[in-house]
Amino acid sequence: MTDASAIAAYWNAAASAFDEEPDHGLREAGTRAAWDRLLRRWAPPPPADVLDLGCGTGSLAALLAGAGHRVTGVDLAPAMVEAARAKLDAAGLPGRFLLGDAAAPPVGRERFDMVVVRHLMWTLPDPRAALRDWAGRIRPGGTLLLVEGRWRQSADAAPYVDGAAALPWTGGVLPDALRAAVAPLASEITLEDLTGDLGLWGREVDDVRYALVARMR
Ligand SMILES: C[S@@+](CC[C@H](N)C(=O)[O-])C[C@H]1O[C@@H](n2cnc3c(N)ncnc32)[C@H](O)[C@@H]1O
Repeated sequence: MTDASAIAAYWNAAASAFDEEPDHGLREAGTRAAWDRLLRRWAPPPPADVLDLGCGTGSLAALLAGAGHRVTGVDLAPAMVEAARAKLDAAGLPGRFLLGDAAAPPVGRERFDMVVVRHLMWTLPDPRAALRDWAGRIRPGGTLLLVEGRWRQSADAAPYVDGAAALPWTGGVLPDALRAAVAPLASEITLEDLTGDLGLWGREVDDVRYALVARMR
């Protein structure tokens, strides 16, 4: 079994260097602009209520807040939550960041116009249950934006956390499998291949990367 405290400890330790990856920190103007375009393409008109789950250091939350949305970020790792708060504060952007489990976000009965999740599904113990939970938090006709992938892993890569090999979508999830999991919850699903979009990643990538955008029932 993978326990949440081990996952939180891993990401706490990773938080200070997380933004060094071009697609994490979005420090280059071109990379930032590519993500901004992607988010503006799929987000409802601002101001919308947006929930960013597994928000990390808040790079996407900052873009969404900059576009005029009311953003709530949730992350399991306190150091990520602190980094996200600091990033938006430094930019003079509003945003609310909460410590908690993305699979059961600590937002009570609040509803959102869009839930955004980037690179989180692979580390959830029960990703299908999480999808069902999120569907109930999105207003009818609202949007679920999942930026996911299936990554190449070297056979000698260090283990992520104990028990991670047993996670249902360890290493990522292929688009058709994610579509099948979301389909019962959505009225319309669009898949956008992001693998060849160098602008988003700041470098060439040759694994599977995509966005799944669902209009919710
Ligand atoms: C690969 S990072 C992605 C961060 C951010 N979404 C981004 O794209 O920059 C995964 C993030 O998910 C968080 N995380 C992992 N499991 C979580 C869970 N069950 N609930 C909330 N956050 C979680 C980690 O702390 C980390 O910040």
